[in-house]
Amino acid sequence: MDHVSQASGTLNRYRNQIPCYNSPTMTARYQALAQQLARSIQEGLLQPGERLPSLRTFCQDQGTSLMTALAAYRHLEDLGQIEAVPRSGYRVLASAPQPLTRPAIPRSRLTAFNTRRNDIIAQVLLAMADPNLLPLGFGCPSPGLFPLAALRRLTAERLNAEKELWVSYSPAPGPLELRRQIARRYQARGLRVGPEEVLVTSGAMEALSLSLQLLAAPGDLVAVECPTFFGITDAARRAGAQVLELPGDPDGGLDPARLASACARRTVRAAVLMPSFANPTGSLMDPQRRRAWMEVLQRHGVALLEDDVYGELAWDGHKVEPLCALPRADGLPNLLVGSLSKTLMPGGRIGYVVARSPWIERLTDLKNTSTLFNVTLSEHLAAEALGSGLYDRHLRRLIPGIQAGVRKLRSCVAQHFPPGTRVSDPRGGFLLWVELPKGSDGLDLFRAAMDRGISLAPGCVFSLGPGLERFIRLNGAASGDFDQAMAVLGQLAGAGPDAGPARLDRGSRVALTSLQSI
Ligand SMILES: Cc1ncc(COP(=O)(O)O)c(C=O)c1O
Repeated sequence: MDHVSQASGTLNRYRNQIPCYNSPTMTARYQALAQQLARSIQEGLLQPGERLPSLRTFCQDQGTSLMTALAAYRHLEDLGQIEAVPRSGYRVLASAPQPLTRPAIPRSRLTAFNTRRNDIIAQVLLAMADPNLLPLGFGCPSPGLFPLAALRRLTAERLNAEKELWVSYSPAPGPLELRRQIARRYQARGLRVGPEEVLVTSGAMEALSLSLQLLAAPGDLVAVECPTFFGITDAARRAGAQVLELPGDPDGGLDPARLASACARRTVRAAVLMPSFANPTGSLMDPQRRRAWMEVLQRHGVALLEDDVYGELAWDGHKVEPLCALPRADGLPNLLVGSLSKTLMPGGRIGYVVARSPWIERLTDLKNTSTLFNVTLSEHLAAEALGSGLYDRHLRRLIPGIQAGVRKLRSCVAQHFPPGTRVSDPRGGFLLWVELPKGSDGLDLFRAAMDRGISLAPGCVFSLGPGLERFIRLNGAASGDFDQAMAVLGQLAGAGPDAGPARLDRGSRVALTSLQSI
């Protein structure tokens, strides 16, 4: 007989006599342990059918006696939450109450809805991990579009070849081979850069944060396009900067004349731009506008931070030259950030910032005094994927897939959305920027759609101020049944049964220039 059966037998025999059932302190202890387990079951941390820790492990973890642990288990058994399995301990009863069917998005947050921007952003992000929701709001291709089998194989190979990868730190600026591969890709796109000018970061988000810390002192003014990725405005504000939102247009990005006129009134320290397939509008800046930007930046002494996260996703396969590739003679920094999150492995958290000396050393210092290291294994996988050609082969498959997805999404908007809807017409990336007709509200649509199992990104999260209430962002690289979801969205957006199809206009310019203070 094993120790569990022995203890169990003892408990059964002396149930009313053993101290844990009689002494007040012992009673409180086993009940507290039972409550703790019950909470884990309720919250879905212990699933129906899942085995509980063995009594021995539970005793060790909780620093309690076998009798107290067993009393806790038996108490839950009496309450019908768990059952004993002969010779293999206890497991959660299949019929144990499971009030949370969607653990990732607690119901209470949806019903008692909070309109604060951060809460909305959190819900859009959580929706990604919820299998019950179609993630049309998330800014990343669905897992099925990534090279899962190849990544699994590479992981096994790398861990076999370098057995200590999981137990090794990888100091900044990151492995030379990965920096070499990143530099090589940018050279092919017209940016003269060497590996010593690349700092590997934990995703582009860290690259943005470090860059904004470098460029902006507290109180400095940082110009951004409106709308823009919320991570940019939030990182600028975390650095203590004031954010100047300048309205862009979904076709050609931000007009540099807007910065020039702002500079006539205020000192702008840095501009954050996304010239290549911007998030959320998908806009692509033409070469002439890029040259005009570099001229305005230099004339007014404004540093540049270019977000190039979507830069390799041109549908026609052409290599888009980064804005940072244009020469700059005023000694101010041109920083470029990117990542492999939208193209290879979002969970690997591989990002980077490209900068000349002395900026690259200052960025490395900032990393060394904040997050220090990245995930070593991811860095080695990324280097291998880029160097072996796997990444290029994968991009050749990914890009037609996302292009087809966006096209389909656009035609669904045309078919199902109410007249007066306008939609962007991107030439790369996988995001669609949709302007709903007058009288509609993106946040209302977001709430109603969540209740119908669809997530989208309401326009208001892409600005710090008002003006984007009627916009939504959709993801053309999400998996699942688009058609049905778009029919539901179209209905929710106000299309009656007789409503004609939406007119496929391009999304409009955002009519605001707002100076948002922190
Ligand atoms: C424009 C832009 N920059 C940066 C990021 C952050 O990317 P990462 O996941 O690599 O941190 C995102 C993610 O959505 C993005 O859209």
